[in-house]
Amino acid sequence: MTELLAADAPGISRAAALLRAGELVALGTETVYGLGADATNARAVAAVFAAKQRPRFNPLICHYPDREAAFVDVVPNEIARRIAASLWPGPLTLVLPRRPQSRVALLTAAGLDSLAVRVPSHPAAAALLRAAARPVAAPSANRSGTVSPTTAQHVLDGLAGRIAAVLDSGPCPVGIESTVLDLMGHDPVLLRPGGTTLEAIEAEIGPVVQSASSNGVLRSPGMMASHYAPSLPVRLDAVSVSKDEALLAFGTPLPGAGTTYNLSPGGDPIEAAARLFVGLRTLDATGPALGCKRIAVMPVPSVGLGHAINDRLRRAASPR
Ligand code: TXA
Ligand code: MG
Repeated sequence: MTELLAADAPGISRAAALLRAGELVALGTETVYGLGADATNARAVAAVFAAKQRPRFNPLICHYPDREAAFVDVVPNEIARRIAASLWPGPLTLVLPRRPQSRVALLTAAGLDSLAVRVPSHPAAAALLRAAARPVAAPSANRSGTVSPTTAQHVLDGLAGRIAAVLDSGPCPVGIESTVLDLMGHDPVLLRPGGTTLEAIEAEIGPVVQSASSNGVLRSPGMMASHYAPSLPVRLDAVSVSKDEALLAFGTPLPGAGTTYNLSPGGDPIEAAARLFVGLRTLDATGPALGCKRIAVMPVPSVGLGHAINDRLRRAASPR
């Protein structure tokens, strides 16, 4: 049963307690309802992808009560500071370099070196984020391929029974998603038009490169060249493992395996998703010194999050 919580003090503290316990809580923001999870808890983030039934791991936005909190997990540059001072809180998301020591789980940004951060202006969202006292990863609270929800009822229509609670803060005043601005490179790039106008942004920081095509469709960060790929070659569907291979295992490891990272000894796709990016990075970092020339990957069944795991593994294994 999904709890419907009022956006008052008891509702907000209940929602915060659920988030801190690793549960999924939908929350109203000024843009659309988000499906929130503790961004430092990889299993909770994996559960978001499972609830949304996303066929792949799209990077998620982390939400914070104020800009000081947001800049704990990313490295702001001069443009980011200026824009945050004038346009936050509000419907604007900034993509910045993730701090290497950030507590945010690698799965939250789908293994990227960047992190999208946002400070919503909605008072109920801000109160919940303050009470949760940790970054909250939240994609729009709809099933993949359906429109974003702007009322608590829309959220329940798609996700009732699949999430712990909805914090009902009424209809979302903006009603479209936040503008996503990429500040990773030399020039700011508009990745998604949204609730903050280009004019407002350009008034602060000057010209912005527009990467979205004319119909507003976002280029998919999962497909970008900057997307993390291991430096060791990756071999999929391994049914045996050789001496010069590190093994990314799922279930019982193959006989004779040396250097091994097990995604899920019990064969649970949610656990495997939570550990996927850490596993790839770990083997990539430790393998070469141990004589590994390749990462062999055991098959992961395409069930539930297995689809997204296999999508990511196929891209990690594709020729570069
Ligand atoms: O208004 C909003 O932004 C809502 C509310 C809940 O905050 N959230 C939302 O999340 O729309 P979602 O997951 O539906 O869309 C997030 C967008 C995606 O297009 C994603 O590709 C992009 O932000 N994004 C997230 N992290 C990124 C990153 N590290 N680099 C590039 N793009 C990123
Ligand atoms: Mg969405």
